[in-house]
Amino acid sequence: MKGLILSGGYGTRLRPITYSQQKQLIPVANKPILFYAIEDVIGAGAKEIGIIVGPNKEQVIETVESENWDAEIDFIYQDAPRGLAHTILVAEDFLDEGFVMYLGDNILREGIAEHAKKFKENNYDASIMLTEVENPEQFGVADINEDGTIKKLIEKPEVPPSNLALVGIYFFKTAILEACKSIKPSWRNELEITDAIQWLIDNGYEVGWTKVNGWWKDTGKPEDIFEANRLILDDIQTRSEGNAESTKIIGRAIIEKGVEIKDSSVKGPSLIGRDCLIRNSYVGPYTSIGKECIIEDTEIEDSIVMEKSEIIGGGRIIESLIGKEVKIKRKADLPNGRKLIVGDHSEIVG
Ligand code: TTP
Repeated sequence: MKGLILSGGYGTRLRPITYSQQKQLIPVANKPILFYAIEDVIGAGAKEIGIIVGPNKEQVIETVESENWDAEIDFIYQDAPRGLAHTILVAEDFLDEGFVMYLGDNILREGIAEHAKKFKENNYDASIMLTEVENPEQFGVADINEDGTIKKLIEKPEVPPSNLALVGIYFFKTAILEACKSIKPSWRNELEITDAIQWLIDNGYEVGWTKVNGWWKDTGKPEDIFEANRLILDDIQTRSEGNAESTKIIGRAIIEKGVEIKDSSVKGPSLIGRDCLIRNSYVGPYTSIGKECIIEDTEIEDSIVMEKSEIIGGGRIIESLIGKEVKIKRKADLPNGRKLIVGDHSEIVG
């Protein structure tokens, strides 16, 4: 089975971060979101992976190639985000019988090996993954027949026929190519994958489904990224390779090599990347700090700080997504907690 991972798209809901950084490269627990997808696809046995790239394609290629993967990786260029079904057409030459398509901004706790196995065992033409959600009107939703087969897929239904939402991971045989060629663009001018799957159902192909039991996160918006960060940090085990002086560490924390912490407190679960300097600060639960950051005279909690950023006298910072090489400096204490979404290379000086 091959893997097709999508790392194109504009990521407009994550601006300003996505002006300079491709969404799938945003770190969750200090690892690019895209890497979770690659690991899952390799974990399901794929030896050849095609990654769809679009805007910022050089960044994606460079980041992926900076790691050694146990699979051969090709990059496939999509000229504009023309829809999920369009990516399958763009990848036509790469694809052959049986592949998994994985949206590169999705994170799934349980991996996909079991789901891939069921797809193969049942010899389906396509298999989708569904998960129970509380707000099905905000998702693509499956209407299931009494015999358990799929009747219909509906995008953001006003009156949802079930609470089973489509996860952004799909298994296909090459019949999907004919489906993608047969459908027309939607009102938003995209070739929709739900329309292509519906085409398979309507034309007598066998479309199965499996249910996701652990958590699943589509990281489209900042709050989804914070939630994914919390979920991943919830599973970490304490490890410290850094140096802490006059510092209280409570709960589970990963403190990487070269980290210096002085006169501070760190409350887990949290993660401090290598060569960071933390001084006279409080690093609170659910915080991931990328490598080579400086945090001084700051309280930070429930946040992601990307590599090489400096926060000095930042006051109290909560639920914030701070890009790479950002400088936040302030001399006086700030009275209230602040929420920040700060793009790469920004400077905030007060
Ligand atoms: P979306 O979240 O639907 O789109 P987006 O990433 O551009 O975000 P926004 O809505 O905030 O502008 O895309 C789902 C995933 O599929 C995401 O990982 C990007 C990827 N994608 C492509 O690679 N090509 C495409 O044509 C589309 C529509 C999405």
